[in-house]
Amino acid sequence: MHTRVPQICAQCHSAIYQKYLTSVHGSALTDEANPDVPTCIDCHGVHNIEDPTTAAFRLKSPTICARCHTDPVRMARYGLSTQVLETYVADFHGTTVTLFEKLSPDAETNKPVCYDCHGVHDIQRIDDPQKGLQVRENLLARCQRCHPDATANFPDAWLSHYIPSAQDTPLVFSVRLFYRILIPGLLGGMAILVALDWRWRRARRRGAQQPSQPAPPAGPKAPPTEAGPAQSAEAAVPAAPPQSVPPPPPSQTSEPSAETERATGTGGAPPSAPLRGPAAASGSKIPPQVPRSAAGRSFAGPSKDVSPSPGGLPETSDD
Ligand code: HEC
Ligand code: HEC
Ligand code: HEC
Ligand code: HEC
Ligand code: HEC
Repeated sequence: MHTRVPQICAQCHSAIYQKYLTSVHGSALTDEANPDVPTCIDCHGVHNIEDPTTAAFRLKSPTICARCHTDPVRMARYGLSTQVLETYVADFHGTTVTLFEKLSPDAETNKPVCYDCHGVHDIQRIDDPQKGLQVRENLLARCQRCHPDATANFPDAWLSHYIPSAQDTPLVFSVRLFYRILIPGLLGGMAILVALDWRWRRARRRGAQQPSQPAPPAGPKAPPTEAGPAQSAEAAVPAAPPQSVPPPPPSQTSEPSAETERATGTGGAPPSAPLRGPAAASGSKIPPQVPRSAAGRSFAGPSKDVSPSPGGLPETSDD
């Protein structure tokens, strides 16, 4: 049955069938009755054939190829790499396609999928002397469909399906390594800053509401800060966990300035030492109508840069 499927479809789709016969998949099927290669229905389904020209089909198409091309047993028989999907996804083209597929499966993508480079019904061996992609002009012609200005050495800008290694592509390898360390480091640092800032603000808010509350002896590790008054307020947090968020305000009169700051949320900079300077200085100058979120609660880091001109703070709101 497997080998007869294309002939059935060929009754009505003879042009495509003729192409398929010349492809690496189709010739293996007809010449060798190879059970490992796809017939029409492996890619299109049988009774559930959908329109293959939609954006959704295009986005999920790499998974159709990957079903066989990441299967180590099947690929081992032909000595083919099983890294083709992984390297494609890691590539600047493939990352976007897979993201789109997950987030908005109906969005058009202009990034190439497997068949933009390899062809559809006429897929060839890469070392085919006439049509294979290892022939430089053949590959360049594929690139030029989307990169019309591409010149002969353009494909060198791209790693193909190779995994960067310290030996073959040391520069790419070390740049990737660098970013693998840098980006988590940066994001982690930001997250810590934001968390510290949030805790500090919460503690400060409570402290302003309950100035008489005594500080318990053992608080959590205080953030590295020289913000003196905040330190005791910070330590007061665990003492009152069950306290509901808006408690009766006992200190209506006690600290008007703290009240204002609380209302506007502009009470200064995050507690972390390096960011304090300018932000703290300008914090109290921010007019009260500045939305609380804009004061940098979630932008602990960058607030350092924008704070000298409070009016210019981004007015996005996350509340
Ligand atoms: C390796 C997977 C694969 C195999 C095998 C395959 N197709 Fe396709 N086919 C595709 C893809 C992908 C598209 C969408 C191409 C596009 O969007 O340009 C497509 C498009 C089509 C279309 C509609 C678009 C057009 O070009 O007219 C038809 C009809 C079709 N295929 C029939 C067949 C038939 C018949 C066979 C068997 C002889 C077959 N296909 C084998 C992947 C495959
Ligand atoms: C009796 C004739 C006939 C046979 C046999 C046949 N098809 Fe089709 N097929 C059609 C017609 C007609 C269309 C509609 C073409 C159009 O809409 O432009 C079509 C459309 C398609 C499309 C595009 C679907 C779409 O929504 O645009 C695909 C893919 C396809 N056929 C695959 C196959 C496959 C795979 C087989 C074999 C299992 C097959 N066809 C067998 C007549 C046939
Ligand atoms: C941007 C173009 C491009 C895209 C996209 C692409 N390939 Fe390739 N592919 C190539 C080139 C070029 C080669 C030949 C690499 C070489 O020089 O050995 C290749 C080689 C291959 C090979 C042969 C591997 C081997 O062991 O010899 C397979 C199989 C393959 N690709 C499948 C895929 C699949 C599946 C996808 C999608 C997940 C895909 N390719 C996406 C360009 C592409
Ligand atoms: C049903 C399994 C299956 C599916 C689906 C499939 N392939 Fe293949 N493919 C194979 C097998 C098996 C071979 C090896 C055939 C041979 O060497 O005789 C092969 C060979 C290839 C080759 C030639 C590698 C070389 O240089 O020898 C390329 C390129 C390729 N496939 C790309 C694709 C792409 C792109 C898709 C998706 C559009 C796809 N394949 C879908 C099984 C599959
Ligand atoms: C289906 C269309 C398509 C094909 C085919 C294609 N690309 Fe791209 N490529 C894109 C798009 C879209 C971008 C993203 C451009 C941007 O974001 O500015 C891109 C980006 C790139 C970039 C990043 C630098 C840049 O210009 O933004 C390189 C390098 C690149 N492609 C190389 C290649 C090579 C080499 C080939 C052929 C093997 C190829 N592309 C084939 C669509 C394609």
